[in-house]
Amino acid sequence: MKTLDNLRAAMRRDQVWDFMVPRQALELDMSHGTILYLEDISVTFDGFRAINHLNLYIDAGELRCIIGPNGAGKTTMMDIITGKTRPDTGTAWFGQTIDLLRLSEPEIASVGIGRKFQKPTVFEQHAVLENLELAMAADKRVWPTLLARLTPEQRERIDEVLETIGLQDQRDQRAGALSHGQKQWLEIGMLLMQNPYLLLVDEPVAGMTHQEMDRTAELLRSLAGKHSVVVVEHDMDFVRSIADKVTVLHQGSVLAEGSMDEVRNDPRVIEVYLGGGP
Ligand SMILES: Nc1ncnc2c1ncn2[C@@H]1O[C@H](COP(=O)(O)OP(=O)(O)O)[C@@H](O)[C@H]1O
Ligand SMILES: [Mg+2]
Repeated sequence: MKTLDNLRAAMRRDQVWDFMVPRQALELDMSHGTILYLEDISVTFDGFRAINHLNLYIDAGELRCIIGPNGAGKTTMMDIITGKTRPDTGTAWFGQTIDLLRLSEPEIASVGIGRKFQKPTVFEQHAVLENLELAMAADKRVWPTLLARLTPEQRERIDEVLETIGLQDQRDQRAGALSHGQKQWLEIGMLLMQNPYLLLVDEPVAGMTHQEMDRTAELLRSLAGKHSVVVVEHDMDFVRSIADKVTVLHQGSVLAEGSMDEVRNDPRVIEVYLGGGP
């Protein structure tokens, strides 16, 4: 497969030629308007079926929210997309041509799938600006030489991302001194430095103040169109504030899909959330 060979060649180059972002070697084919196809995916852990014949399609540039009770399989679904967990059955395609199940975890990252985990993992001792710079190089061995060698394009990209995440005034601050919300935005910024086609975000507003939540909603909305964004989130007010289309997962399958109002009024969804409450 040609694209896969190109990608692997680019990744090999990346080990030598330091901070080039390898994904740019790859032009993702989204000619059908769909960026991600998960079809008939199942995963069993010790006899327990965490994902059960899951079908999920994400459009190019859309912002999708995934909700569902604890244990519904939301994180496992993200683990499958990123290659951390391999499904027992099913298919996972990125655009028209990339078979995710044939790629390793680092290869999946370099074809343009970025994942933000719940806990921010910024480099606390480094300045905000340096965090963004360092995020350009996967290979930590090149970091000592990286900062002195940025091209004008790379500096421009950093300024653009600083503006997107709203941390221009904090650019020279130590990341460790940021608020919880600011760290989360910085980490999203670090993912943006890789210019991903698809961004996966797990529970972005946990622990945030209301003001930070509003700012995060704005940020995620501003990414849609330029990227596809999949957000897993428990906070219903937050989901309502950002969602176009919502997918409800339950017992490893899609229970309902539609606008927030459609899924909220779906009797099956109401039943699943009865008692527990999202
Ligand atoms: N690596 C694993 N080994 C065993 N069980 C797992 C593993 N990962 C997830 N599970 C189980 O799969 C189910 C789905 O988990 P998860 O995807 O974390 O749900 P969610 O994120 O929707 O809360 C849960 O019952 C969980 O205990
Ligand atoms: Mg989870």
